[in-house]
Amino acid sequence: MAKETEPNFDHLSEAELLALLDPEVLPKHIAIIMDGNGRWAELRGLPRIAGHAEGIKSVREIITLCRDLDIGALTIYAFSQENWKRPALEINALMMLLEQYLQSELDELIRKGARFRAIGRVDSIPSSALNWVRKVEKATAHLDKLLLNVALSYGGRSEIVDAVRRLAEDVQDGRVQPEMIDEAFLEGYLSTHGLPDPDLLIRTSGETRISNFLLWQLAYTEMYFTPTLWPDFRRREGLLALLEYQKRERRFGQVSKAVSPQSRP
Ligand code: FPP
Repeated sequence: MAKETEPNFDHLSEAELLALLDPEVLPKHIAIIMDGNGRWAELRGLPRIAGHAEGIKSVREIITLCRDLDIGALTIYAFSQENWKRPALEINALMMLLEQYLQSELDELIRKGARFRAIGRVDSIPSSALNWVRKVEKATAHLDKLLLNVALSYGGRSEIVDAVRRLAEDVQDGRVQPEMIDEAFLEGYLSTHGLPDPDLLIRTSGETRISNFLLWQLAYTEMYFTPTLWPDFRRREGLLALLEYQKRERRFGQVSKAVSPQSRP
């Protein structure tokens, strides 16, 4: 049998890539591990923080892309629990960038109808950044065109530990009977409760790990790994990821090829 050749999109414009997308088969929720900011900067002889600052421009473009395509939820990994091990200078600069982003972007998020929400052990970030997080969460709480979850001081295992701890307290207090606990019930204790699980996970910079991100929620997610560094991951790269997603057959453990990319088991 002749081997199918992979389509080559190199010569296509963004408008042409957009036209190739099937609007019926778009993810409802995209998760992104934004990796490679440091390398992007080092390749240019710049301080690492310059890569993070450039990465914010990619965040803006991908939010706009999600809004343009009516993708309802975007969850981005901005700061992991492991990132606390970085040099204090880089941590401080990242927190400052987050604060500046929130200050400068609030109006734009509102204009886009985007609700901002932080997930993770957010209370451990410095108080001036935390104040802005809470302020932007409050100011956008009524918006529903896009839910932007930003993972801050986040770890997938500790999210599950925190959920189980609160669930155990509810059992101890008699509010929950052990036989009530199933997957859907436990899901209600996670930071993403009420949201569909991500359909697509994107990780940039050539690494092919999950790195403790959304461990529960990624059970059936399609993975897209690209060598592109996060500051170079702009609208065009987002469209390429979506075109690749549309080629995947999502079976959710079943055998039939008839399952559509968006159906759930
Ligand atoms: C990973 O690159 C990236 C991060 C640890 C931070 C991501 C943060 C941003 C894009 C900016 C802040 C975000 C918001 C929402 C305002 P790396 O530093 O690990 O890169 P490397 O692997 O090349 O060293």
